[in-house]
Amino acid sequence: MSHDTIAIAPSILACDFSQLARELDSIRTADAIHFDVMDGHFVPNLSFGVPLLQAVKRVSSLPVDAHIMVSNPEEQIGWYIDAGADSITIHMEAQTHIHRMIYSIKNAGRKAAVAINPGSAIESLSAVLPDIDMILVMSVNPGFGGQSFIPTTTQKVAALSAFCHERGYDPLIEVDGGVTENNAAELARAGARMLVAGSSVFKHEDRSRAIATIRAAAQDGVARA
Ligand code: DX5
Ligand code: ZN
Repeated sequence: MSHDTIAIAPSILACDFSQLARELDSIRTADAIHFDVMDGHFVPNLSFGVPLLQAVKRVSSLPVDAHIMVSNPEEQIGWYIDAGADSITIHMEAQTHIHRMIYSIKNAGRKAAVAINPGSAIESLSAVLPDIDMILVMSVNPGFGGQSFIPTTTQKVAALSAFCHERGYDPLIEVDGGVTENNAAELARAGARMLVAGSSVFKHEDRSRAIATIRAAAQDGVARA
């Protein structure tokens, strides 16, 4: 994917699971599906896991990014690789052997991403920069959809973008939490190229229009960068 292009990844945490196939069809103009795995331990909420990912893969051809918010990712990432996740995002805060995990993901032919929470410093990424495809910057404290965007995230994304470029790396920067058409431009301008959007897509009746609106706002931000 060119780094001038914005990708929109709806988080299906916000969808109506009783209508899964229809909900997935409603977001077919998106670039990826964001799949939030929560264990009720690393984050104070429980969501879904492998059986739902298998169901998603049966009905959607979009790439799936599995955002793994669990305390023991090392024991679990294999499950999501086997279930067909196209990229796997693990939290810097959740494990001790991040390098080994990144390579189990990459050796399985999937893209590897590392997420950092709002309270984590961008410098913590320095040792893994050469190894990762993507960095996910949390713009809310993980655990729930529908939270308010933390405004200092934009500055953090700009600093992260400079931090990567100064070191000669160009990972895809993704932002997750409280993303709407109102902050998409500033995030893209700061260097974000993939935006996760849960409630701001699924609360609208017309999902392709909601996706197009966020994408257009972000594309505007890229043009003004
Ligand atoms: C939060 C999750 C997010 C969330 C985004 O822990 O990682 O992906 O579903 O939802 P919105 O866009 O509603 O904040
Ligand atoms: Zn997420």
